[in-house]
Amino acid sequence: MLKVSAHKESFAQLKADVAVVLIIKKKTKHKWIDQEFLRALDYQAKSPLYHQQAKTLYIPLESLDVDSMREAGATTIKALKSYPFKSAKIGFYAQDSKHNSDATMLAYALGAMLGGYSFDKFLSKKQPSALREMLISLESYTTDSASATKERAQHFSKQLDEMKIIAHSVNIARDLVNTPPQIATPKYLASYAQELVKDTALSCKILKKQELKKQKMGAYLAVAKASSKSPRLIHLSYKPKNPKKKVVLVGKGLTYDSGGLSLKPSDYMVTMKADKSGGCAVLGIMNAVAKLELDIEIHGIIGACENMIGGNAYKPDDVLISREGKSIEIGNTDAEGRLVLADCLSYAQDLEPDVLIDFATLTGACVVGLGEYTSGVMGYNQKLQLDFTQSALDSGELVAILPFNRHIKKLIESKIADVSNVSSSRYGGAISAGMFLGEFIRESYKDKWLHIDIAGPAFVTKEWDINPYGASGAGVRMGIQFLSDLSQRNK
Ligand code: BES
Ligand code: ZN
Ligand code: ZN
Repeated sequence: MLKVSAHKESFAQLKADVAVVLIIKKKTKHKWIDQEFLRALDYQAKSPLYHQQAKTLYIPLESLDVDSMREAGATTIKALKSYPFKSAKIGFYAQDSKHNSDATMLAYALGAMLGGYSFDKFLSKKQPSALREMLISLESYTTDSASATKERAQHFSKQLDEMKIIAHSVNIARDLVNTPPQIATPKYLASYAQELVKDTALSCKILKKQELKKQKMGAYLAVAKASSKSPRLIHLSYKPKNPKKKVVLVGKGLTYDSGGLSLKPSDYMVTMKADKSGGCAVLGIMNAVAKLELDIEIHGIIGACENMIGGNAYKPDDVLISREGKSIEIGNTDAEGRLVLADCLSYAQDLEPDVLIDFATLTGACVVGLGEYTSGVMGYNQKLQLDFTQSALDSGELVAILPFNRHIKKLIESKIADVSNVSSSRYGGAISAGMFLGEFIRESYKDKWLHIDIAGPAFVTKEWDINPYGASGAGVRMGIQFLSDLSQRNK
């Protein structure tokens, strides 16, 4: 990953192969902007532009807010891929604006760290970027007193280190989700988790098929049945001394979702390697919390399995008995994520969490409803939903609350079992799926639980924001932000 570092030298003093200058349309006036050059080209600041004589790369910036800055960081790195420069420098010099704040500079840095990602493992001809380093000038700090400058700079560098941890964690999730399904099996994810914990404060427990049977996870096991790849429940734990709270995260880890006997049409099956995105997000978050040394006990539960077809497959009309003891009538084997999650959420509640959050690429309906950039937030506790929403938006990920209601709850009633895995209506599919999960949340945990449907942003087919083609690592940034905000709130 790109190395980003902060320096007390002025932008002019910093030595790098290329200077990066951010431009908001034609309005920006600054000594680093060669107005004559730009006017001659009638530059509209819509795409990056390289000024050879000045060794300067102009990067368009939509506005001075953090979201635009993050995106500009990604734009910079992508533009620099076509140049041979090893190092680049950037300064944030708009003296009179919030442009100078730590938050915007950090957002730019995160965009730069995440925007350059590509999954090139299987490309014979890789096109690696020459760029190794991005130097940030903290010039704008030097107006304060010397000791204040030093203190602020140290604080900034510390925050920059945290950004590196976050970016690395996002890329862990991206790499795993992008890994093709014949390689990234449940067993592969389990081995990955066991490797990951080796140099961290995490521990890892793996439950195989026999243990899942002992756990009476009838819903999870039914989904996994037809696959030649056996399921793995991955349980990661982070237990600091004197934790203030206990949080359990659960992730849907379908290493492939063919739809099962309710087989998906070909066009819809493509990208279903990304149905493990929730689980991979949990892995990424767990990596971060251990490195950030949060003072919360955190568990990550990943329900990994594959939804396939075959003589042994579970069927529409089957009735399953879940770990909570509730019976489920199967209306569609493609609504499998909620079955795996029902049993994993049951297991999670036995850990007695203060907060319980699941991440899942659960429904196409969520994508239809919110668009492909936004995740759905659901649950029974409005305050918790609002807190999570705030953290998510602060992290740079988009979310929106989808409200439960008693009418939709009736749509998942079954005549022969306690609940049906599909809704009787074609509308409100994201909420009915969320409310199905809610059926497996015990009364005493209803106010502690959140469901996050990341089906929209998890996999990117046309790049947007800081997300290149492929897995985005959706859920990782919002999850980390929520947990660090929670630990701050406890102080
Ligand atoms: N994994 C899919 C949901 C999905 C769809 C994720 C598109 C990402 C992009 C899930 O298991 C599924 O197939 N859901 C069905 C539910 C239906 C059968 C009730 C869906 O959304 O169509
Ligand atoms: Zn499905
Ligand atoms: Zn699925």
